[in-house]
Amino acid sequence: MNRKPLVAGNWKMNMTVADARHLVSQMVPGLQSKSGVDKVICPPHTALLAVSSLLEGTDISLGAQNLFWEPSGAFTGEISPAMVAEFCDYVILGHSERRAYFGETDKDVNRKVQAAFAHDLTPIVCIGETLEEYEADRTYDVVFRQAKLGLDGIQFAGQESDGSNLVIAYEPIWCIGTGRAATPTDANEVIANVIRPALGELFGNEIAQRIRVLYGGSVTGDNARDFFQQPEIDGALVGGASLKVADYTQITLAAVQ
Ligand code: 13P
Repeated sequence: MNRKPLVAGNWKMNMTVADARHLVSQMVPGLQSKSGVDKVICPPHTALLAVSSLLEGTDISLGAQNLFWEPSGAFTGEISPAMVAEFCDYVILGHSERRAYFGETDKDVNRKVQAAFAHDLTPIVCIGETLEEYEADRTYDVVFRQAKLGLDGIQFAGQESDGSNLVIAYEPIWCIGTGRAATPTDANEVIANVIRPALGELFGNEIAQRIRVLYGGSVTGDNARDFFQQPEIDGALVGGASLKVADYTQITLAAVQ
């Protein structure tokens, strides 16, 4: 199956508008000439407007890091799907930091995925096990459950029917920001043995084969290629290295080499 690689940068809670402008203007020239890979930058909400105008006319897409599923109303501090869709094509959902620090459940993630689809946003749905779960050999159970519950009841229809507008990011939590990446073959096996079969049960094999599955967790310019060489790894969700121009450009290049 020929899935187009995708590299997304999750800036997390970094970059003021001024910082974001500076970083993006340095990054765009190196990124935009790279064809054969979908490129997504996910700044914090406050920088979406500024970054969206800098990305105008480029082939680099914009993503948000979260949304709330309600359309509008008394939800202080939240951002609706329509507000995100004003600027973005993508949205990261269910990141482990949101699950750990803000109590997001699989049910919440599911509501957010439904809301994203209803607004033609492509969700990048994050799943992954903790170190404790990894050491207790529970990776397969946890990842399978997160995939099944987070995507329960999702319907592909119309232009969404080929599965290309759903992206999964497998991010083992013990690899995030730790400098300790999973081995590429282990990550590939989790995707092959757990994530792709869960997608198959949910959507049928044909669509499951078209959904891109990224790896995330301590991806760098130096190790990216080893991940991308794995048959089930369709790109990366990059944290720390997405704030570094040379590293991030190298990761993006590695996706097409
Ligand atoms: P790092 O690349 O900093 O480990 O972060 C990964 C991540 O959480 C991306 O969403």
